[in-house]
Amino acid sequence: MSEGGSSSKVVYVKDLPGVNPQIAEKLESAGYTTVWALIVARPEEVSEKTGLPPTTVSRVIDSARKVLGLTFKTAKDVKYERLSIKKITTGSRELDNILGGGVETKTITEFFGEYGTGKTQICHQLSVNVQLPPEKGGLSGKAVYIDTEGTFRWERIEAMARAVGLEPDKAMENIFYQRAYNSDHQISIVEELFSFVPKNNVRLVVLDSVTSHFRAEYPGREHLAERQQKLNAHLHQLMRLAEAYNLAVVVTNQVMARPDVFYGDPTVAVGGHVLAHTPGVRVQLRKSKGNKRIARIVDAPHLPEGEAVFVITEEGIRDSEE
Ligand code: GTP
Ligand code: MG
Repeated sequence: MSEGGSSSKVVYVKDLPGVNPQIAEKLESAGYTTVWALIVARPEEVSEKTGLPPTTVSRVIDSARKVLGLTFKTAKDVKYERLSIKKITTGSRELDNILGGGVETKTITEFFGEYGTGKTQICHQLSVNVQLPPEKGGLSGKAVYIDTEGTFRWERIEAMARAVGLEPDKAMENIFYQRAYNSDHQISIVEELFSFVPKNNVRLVVLDSVTSHFRAEYPGREHLAERQQKLNAHLHQLMRLAEAYNLAVVVTNQVMARPDVFYGDPTVAVGGHVLAHTPGVRVQLRKSKGNKRIARIVDAPHLPEGEAVFVITEEGIRDSEE
């Protein structure tokens, strides 16, 4: 991907200096196909999974860093990296406006709110809209949809695609769907994306929801620290993915309406969002009358303040008429 700068080009581990075919084979069969997959992994983990000695692993990782030019850059480089950020329309102009033009690449956007606030509908809509050409608010790209709750509906994709003038079957072919059955599975799917994404022109990765498995598997206060640590590492991987391939990562997070009922889960009690320690954009969703929903950006001094009202219609996410 040229617009992402030198650090986002795809380099395969087999092409690294100092990696012979035997080493390459071991790395590849453990899932480290691209240099980025290697760079974001912990060296001990690479060593464990490949059976390669730690000294070999650290030599290969050093070589990978050099190839990717992970070193100082100038302020001008930073400027051009910033300018390479792209936006995907949500379908609602008002919602796009408070997001600064749409959902951004190179970052994680979290939609959080209670049940029925439209988190899943927004994920469906973005998976369609990312396929639109830039002049219509898309990136002419494909989507990966990781579903933890089984709430993905192809029928919605079909209807939303038709409504924006995309050929429905084609639009469905451009969405790679996978159900994640537990948190370890979810983490390993994201690791695989470091090799899958560059081969498939993926510009959006959806995780609906990012939190449900972690909540179920690490319940209560006694597991909170462990849960948050795992979740932070997972979010960090997602952030690297977004930056490396100039794509948008969108995650959802259900929070309860009445935290008092769920005493024992302080993440919920403190307003809910899980990305507090990860850079990214947090969008709170609330219900309003009928099919109206209200969105508000939380903790983002660089984005416009205020609320956006949007509606969920048969056609998808749209501006409210009034
Ligand atoms: P949880 O996953 O339970 O936390 O909720 P969520 O925030 O993901 O809610 P979701 O996106 O599933 O939004 C549900 C709302 O979208 C419903 O209350 C409906 O109002 C609307 N909706 C869902 N499917 C359709 C549809 O096919 N047509 C229309 N018009 N509205 C729909
Ligand atoms: Mg949902």
